[in-house]
Amino acid sequence: MENERREQVERIERLKREKNAIILAHNYQRAEIQDIAEFVGDSLELARKAMDTTADLIIFCGVDFMAETAAILNPDKKVVIPDKGAICPMAQQLFADDLLAAKRKNPDAKVVLYVNTLAECKALADCVCTSANAQEIVNAMDSSTVLFGPDRNLAYHAQKTTSKIIIPVPEHGLCPSHHQIVMTDLLKAKKAHPRAKIIVHPECIPEVQDHADYIASTSGMVKICNEKGAGDEFLIGTEIGLLHRLKKEAPEKKFYPISTTAVCPQMKMHTLEKVEAALKNEKPEVVVPDEIMDKARKAIERMLEISH
Ligand code: 13P
Ligand code: SF4
Repeated sequence: MENERREQVERIERLKREKNAIILAHNYQRAEIQDIAEFVGDSLELARKAMDTTADLIIFCGVDFMAETAAILNPDKKVVIPDKGAICPMAQQLFADDLLAAKRKNPDAKVVLYVNTLAECKALADCVCTSANAQEIVNAMDSSTVLFGPDRNLAYHAQKTTSKIIIPVPEHGLCPSHHQIVMTDLLKAKKAHPRAKIIVHPECIPEVQDHADYIASTSGMVKICNEKGAGDEFLIGTEIGLLHRLKKEAPEKKFYPISTTAVCPQMKMHTLEKVEAALKNEKPEVVVPDEIMDKARKAIERMLEISH
């Protein structure tokens, strides 16, 4: 089995060289996918990496909206997602018609959308944001009211640093995986590891956010844990895939997931077999219709201009 795996990884490496291809992987990917990627990161970093690369082919191991963002920012590169079924359920909670209705009700509001949203919605937004910069982006809008979607928990996080009125659209958008992380788990984990720092993602429910020492994007969480003086024990409140990167980068520290059921099944759909097939066949390609692409690009580029 080990030999088979090694041979498979060698075939993947050879295909990458032959095709001038790179693998970009989100922090929640399976360990074996993270280990063969040129870059592993959060949504913001992956968008930036996709723009910076000179590769002709990007194999994107993440969910649909991330691969679409890479495609929108790189109309001249081929972006391929190993399993087309990797569809983020949160992004499916807001559709263009609902957003248009909210805009009609609040004509003076600016629209900030979490990057975890459909391209058709991004095309209607003033600006996109990620979990790494939601507070900064909301504050940069020149309106006193902001329509924000689809994650109500990220809206709660953004509201903490602004006097603007944030209206969540839809009212109850959420990530099913982060909703697995509940207060009873957090209190139990804290009791078992009283010295551990609590670090959570802003997709967690408000109560969990309020009990955390730090709230950050997935790569932000890694950065905090790697800092000297941050401590050597951490309770991690996000999808469990992040644990692989945390343990790899700081093997001397201890990381405990607050909830082991916080798994994003869509993120786990990519496998080495599917990556090899995607490299070989250059399919399935991520295609965004032209009329949506140009408008959505404006909202994403606005974010990249504002956020450093
Ligand atoms: P990050 O941008 O923090 O990696 O978050 C993406 C995501 O989908 C979290 O569920
Ligand atoms: Fe979407 Fe949640 Fe999965 Fe992130 S963890 S990709 S928000 S379902």
